Amino acid sequence: MADVGRAIQNKRGVPPARPENLAIKRDFLELSALSASELGGLLRLAARLKAELKSGLEHPYLRGRTLAMIFQKPSLRTRITFETGMAQLGGHAIYLAPQDIGIGERESAKDVARNLSRWVDLIMIRTFAHAICAELAREAAVPVINGLTDMLHPCQLLADLLTLRERFGGLRKLKVAFVGDGFNLANSWIEAAALAQFELRLACPAGYEPGKEFRDLLGGLRGGLLTRDAAAAVRDADVVYTDTWTSMGQEREAAKRRRDFKEFQVNRDLMKHARPEAIVMHCLPAHRGEEITDEVIDGPQSVVLDQAENRLHAQKAVMVWLLRPEILAHQGPVANEDL
Ligand code: CP
Ligand code: NVA
Repeated sequence: MADVGRAIQNKRGVPPARPENLAIKRDFLELSALSASELGGLLRLAARLKAELKSGLEHPYLRGRTLAMIFQKPSLRTRITFETGMAQLGGHAIYLAPQDIGIGERESAKDVARNLSRWVDLIMIRTFAHAICAELAREAAVPVINGLTDMLHPCQLLADLLTLRERFGGLRKLKVAFVGDGFNLANSWIEAAALAQFELRLACPAGYEPGKEFRDLLGGLRGGLLTRDAAAAVRDADVVYTDTWTSMGQEREAAKRRRDFKEFQVNRDLMKHARPEAIVMHCLPAHRGEEITDEVIDGPQSVVLDQAENRLHAQKAVMVWLLRPEILAHQGPVANEDL
């Protein structure tokens, strides 16, 4: 939004927007761009927004602000939670479906970024190549949020970490097992483990490991493990996480993937290796009977709906942080229970 627009907004009593100096514009593309204290601050803000919403308090922190949501893939959770979150914060969200703007086809990412920056305060994009998301962020004068790429899904991870914080009170002592594809969710778990310093074991079939950059990051972590043995990854784990075997855009490989991943199903037998009080997580959508059985995803150890709910609160915290960073700063130093 141009400065003149901001001046008009300020006359209407809207608090100052994002930093005046665009050189310090922040984006939310990857967890690894955060400091541990920023991560702790985001989790604390998300927890407060959630608790206060439940007690009926309103947070019109983003009154008069607009979010453009670019989707090049389908979505239930991401779309609904961003749109609802923006409404709850007093702002407005615009949904742009894959056929609406054809980013990189009808118009370059650069031109889309520069146009949107003249109208809206914030952009969220769900796309295939992470490079498109990064280019959009580079060219936009407003903050950009990664709503999932083939490389990373940081919004999901923030909601997942909020869920762990609620369940365990802290992250640092946890043993997390990720069982499945070394794709966007696995990569984001590696970034999360590096930042919050919990133990992460990854079990992937041969040929489905994360790329070198993420393998190296995992290899350098205390308790970091990459294995082809799902039971070894899950042994004594506090958290067992899985994701679809066939991600969006890989549908033609589905039959082969079902064969390649068949030893990597999260079922009752695999869960016997985890701690008795372990929880089961899944980002959803789930393919029941493939990566996870009905009895596990619907069972008492499953927290999948808490994760889905927490998308709302985590993303509200991200949007507030990007557009009203002073609110995060005023929370004070990060405490033990934040991480
Ligand atoms: N977990 C997740 O991102 O869900 P959607 O694909 O429905 O947005
Ligand atoms: N790995 C999955 C996550 C969906 C939220 C995908 O990319 O389709």
